[in-house]
Amino acid sequence: MSNIIILGAQWGDEGKGKIVDLVCDRFDIVARYQGGHNAGHTVLIGEKKFILKLIPSGILHPGKQAVIGNGLVVDPAALLTEIQSLESAGVHVSGRLFISNRAHVLFPFHRTMERMLDAIGTTSRGIGPCYEDKAGRRGLRMADLLDDRNFSAQLKTLAAEKGTVASAFGINEGLDLARMLADYQAFAERMRPMVCDTARLLNDAIRAGKKVMFEGAQGTLLDLDHGTYPFVTSSSASAGGASTGTGVPPTRIDAVVAVAKAYTTRVGGGPFPTEALDDMGDQIRQRGNEFGSVTGRPRRCGWFDLPLVRYSAMLNGFDSLVVTKLDVLDGLEKIPVCVAYRSGRHELTEMPATTAGWAAIEPVYECLPGWQTPTAGTSRYEELPQQARAYLTYLEDRIGVEVGCISTGPERNQTIIRPDSRFQQLFA
Ligand code: IMP
Repeated sequence: MSNIIILGAQWGDEGKGKIVDLVCDRFDIVARYQGGHNAGHTVLIGEKKFILKLIPSGILHPGKQAVIGNGLVVDPAALLTEIQSLESAGVHVSGRLFISNRAHVLFPFHRTMERMLDAIGTTSRGIGPCYEDKAGRRGLRMADLLDDRNFSAQLKTLAAEKGTVASAFGINEGLDLARMLADYQAFAERMRPMVCDTARLLNDAIRAGKKVMFEGAQGTLLDLDHGTYPFVTSSSASAGGASTGTGVPPTRIDAVVAVAKAYTTRVGGGPFPTEALDDMGDQIRQRGNEFGSVTGRPRRCGWFDLPLVRYSAMLNGFDSLVVTKLDVLDGLEKIPVCVAYRSGRHELTEMPATTAGWAAIEPVYECLPGWQTPTAGTSRYEELPQQARAYLTYLEDRIGVEVGCISTGPERNQTIIRPDSRFQQLFA
């Protein structure tokens, strides 16, 4: 098993970054396949805290290569700032980071567009409007940005169109085209050495026996097709996206490992049947430090939702599931788990497809006994309290996938890898 996808099973922020970091040594290349600088995970380098948004975290491991695939939308200013902060912390990016020449370029007017249209509580980074231009076949890609002869005319056309739309919405920001052009031309020169056909790079590497990790951003239920539409992001966060978003065929991808929290969170608007709007929700938020790493917004918190993760397992074909932040539930007397949804007199075990459908359901809970003993930092499965093991077994039985790894704290050593699990085999 060489090439493995690691992705979020819920609505993002499951703690993928830590798991990617944990298993990174086994790979030669880490590739991102979708999203943009709406994603974010916090990493510590020495005493310094970084939030990586666009660059795969593999870059933090000496000798590894990192790829920003064609499925991403790239804000050059955000990317260059990230590179700069890594370089100044002694992480040398040069020669190890590759950006797809087919990735779309995000411009300031994409943020302006988002201000007019955002109805779902996005991260306001211009991500959706940039993907709209991609799907509308008018977007500009990295290769266009580097094309000195044509870029200026192409940008002019796209910017003029945005100006027309903005003024129709009564926004007259006086877009300074000359300045934007100069900025982007300067960005282009700085990025030029990193831009290439990354589909070719990845496929050649795989053919040469190199191992690739595909690092998902956001989470499955934020996937444009399969998530809780329209309260989703604009890219393919589920496993299928790894192929379209990098150009590596499905036949070259060997396994999918998903990461889920021991409870559920989401940021932004949209359905969330198990949301705990009471004091319990606050407790989880505080204990789990559930505040967005990109926007700082408090995350909505609630209980584990089995129908949702089961659906996610079906879509992605999980080989193993990692459960993170188990320790956040320490101390609870009882832990509700959603086993089905109730709609009128009917019980549903599948996710609704419409906003109205979501509004019409209520979660059906089973309550499991809590463990009321600290698990933080535990690194051996047998050392978990019996009720915590029973909780994990309950989840794996009902999802139908092993829980191969459990995270009990932010540090690397605060992790349980279950002996003889598929997880262990995959990353041995
Ligand atoms: P956008 O990706 O900025 O367009 O936002 C669309 C939805 O996805 C909003 O509900 C965001 O809060 C959510 N979202 C985007 N990125 C992340 C992430 O990395 N973690 C969790 N939610 C996210």
